[in-house]
Amino acid sequence: MITIEKLRYTYPDGTEVLRGVDLKIGRGERVAVLGPNGSGKSTLFLCLNGVHRATEGRILLEGRPMAYDKKGMLDVRRKVGVVFQDPETQLFCVDVYQEVAFGPHNLGYGKQQVHDSVMKSLDAMDVTELKDRPPHFLSGGQKKRVTVASVLSMSPQVLLFDEPTAALDPIHARQLMEEIDRLNAEGITILMATHDVDQAYAWADRAVVLDSGVVRASGTPDEVFCDVKLLEQTGLQTPFVLRTYRALLRSGRIRGADSPPHTAEELEALIEEV
Ligand SMILES: Nc1ncnc2c1ncn2[C@@H]1O[C@H](COP(=O)(O)OP(=O)(O)OP(=O)(O)O)[C@@H](O)[C@H]1O
Ligand SMILES: [Mg+2]
Repeated sequence: MITIEKLRYTYPDGTEVLRGVDLKIGRGERVAVLGPNGSGKSTLFLCLNGVHRATEGRILLEGRPMAYDKKGMLDVRRKVGVVFQDPETQLFCVDVYQEVAFGPHNLGYGKQQVHDSVMKSLDAMDVTELKDRPPHFLSGGQKKRVTVASVLSMSPQVLLFDEPTAALDPIHARQLMEEIDRLNAEGITILMATHDVDQAYAWADRAVVLDSGVVRASGTPDEVFCDVKLLEQTGLQTPFVLRTYRALLRSGRIRGADSPPHTAEELEALIEEV
């Protein structure tokens, strides 16, 4: 779905952020993008959405190099949706309904089609009741949910979520993860930048670790989170479930599973067997 070749990106002020990123992402994959503050996760997402143009190297979508002319950008916007880390940068309409309608309208959907996709997306993000409110006067989490709805309404094939659950209460965080899983089950490719190692470990097919603008590691969560040296070098913690599982195993309190548990529920099931 996405091929990134030797991608470099330097901001206009000379800050060199991406220093040769190579990555291939398959259709329908769920990829967690990890890495310390300033490692380039958000910048990478902005390159994937065409907001930033590669300084060197290139990005291919479905095998075709990203084109930065008007037609090329329309194609990128149609295929790749990004939910920014900071919702403020993404909200600019007078009310929530128009905010969510903006994307599909720009992509040339018909009137009824715009309305249907808006109502469906508002409902998916539990923000239908806010549809007549000005986005700027919403709470942080509500703003976040509106920005997610505004991206879902364009039905992209690739969704980039930049720390999507950071501002959300537990119920809405779970609701969003369920929505993400539902979209993924339909074949949508999902990339998620996160500092939440527990979430990455439980959710991802693949974990990519960015560090100082290069890919330090890319593998299954088991591969990445068992690499003690990598974790040390990049400041990542071992996920809580994995750590607890190992401690219980060491002290002989549970039997070893074929593959380590990834969620609290899987760990509980192992404990309850005893
Ligand atoms: N508009 C900009 N102009 C200049 N430098 C920028 C700009 N935006 C970001 N940077 C710099 O680029 C680097 C990477 O930032 P980026 O936001 O991509 O990191 P990140 O991995 O998303 O970090 P975080 O975990 O804090 O979200 C940082 O050093 C940042 O200061
Ligand atoms: Mg960021």
